[in-house]
Amino acid sequence: MNVAVILVAAGSGVRLGAGMPKAFAPLCGEPLLAHALRGVFGCGQVGHVIIVAPDFHVDQCRAAVRLLDGHRQAEVVPGGVDRSASVEAGLAALRHEDRIVLVHDVARALAPPDLFDRVIRAVRAGHPAVVPGLPVTDTVKVVDAQGRVLATPDRESLRGIQTPQGFLREVLQHAHAGGGSATDDAGLVERAGGHVRVITGDARALKITSPLDLLVATALLQDGQHAG
Ligand code: C5P
Repeated sequence: MNVAVILVAAGSGVRLGAGMPKAFAPLCGEPLLAHALRGVFGCGQVGHVIIVAPDFHVDQCRAAVRLLDGHRQAEVVPGGVDRSASVEAGLAALRHEDRIVLVHDVARALAPPDLFDRVIRAVRAGHPAVVPGLPVTDTVKVVDAQGRVLATPDRESLRGIQTPQGFLREVLQHAHAGGGSATDDAGLVERAGGHVRVITGDARALKITSPLDLLVATALLQDGQHAG
């Protein structure tokens, strides 16, 4: 079963404050996109890579792929108005032979190849929808618009969900065909009545959203370089 990765990279990155789309924000001298692609290409099971680029930055994304070592190939398509629309732009670029589809956020630029491997293995093992997740350390509360606490879910049952998220192609397509938007693809699968399996995530797959996250990512990279 051929595996495709849709790397959604069309976000504006306003919260990061880098003055450019997040995909091009520098981390240790390289754009987040280059780091994210290294994780994707490091996984030997991936056969097709689709980058969903910010409008007007398609050529810049193609140039970033050319700069990677090893003659890597990736298709680049323009993104949509929100994350779901960007995923759908990626779905439209799938090839006939792509049977397993992973959706990954460029914002999780340090997700290691091993995480891709484990997600793909879980889908191959028979789970139609697989997400990586880690236990949450904060106590999480449900609040209303006035800030009144409505509920405190049992922390033991909570997971912080990451990407890459892996799906049988038809499951992901069916979920998106149902319309609506969600902050992740598994949310759409759940809404369509599908079952989603959580596997152990990886702290390195943190979502780089704020300048503080960029600092943490820089420290992680430098630590990895020293360890390596
Ligand atoms: O906005 P949020 O932080 O949830 O974005 C998550 C991911 O979705 C990011 O990798 C971002 O580049 C991508 N995205 C996209 N197209 C949009 C909005 C977000 O590809 N229109």
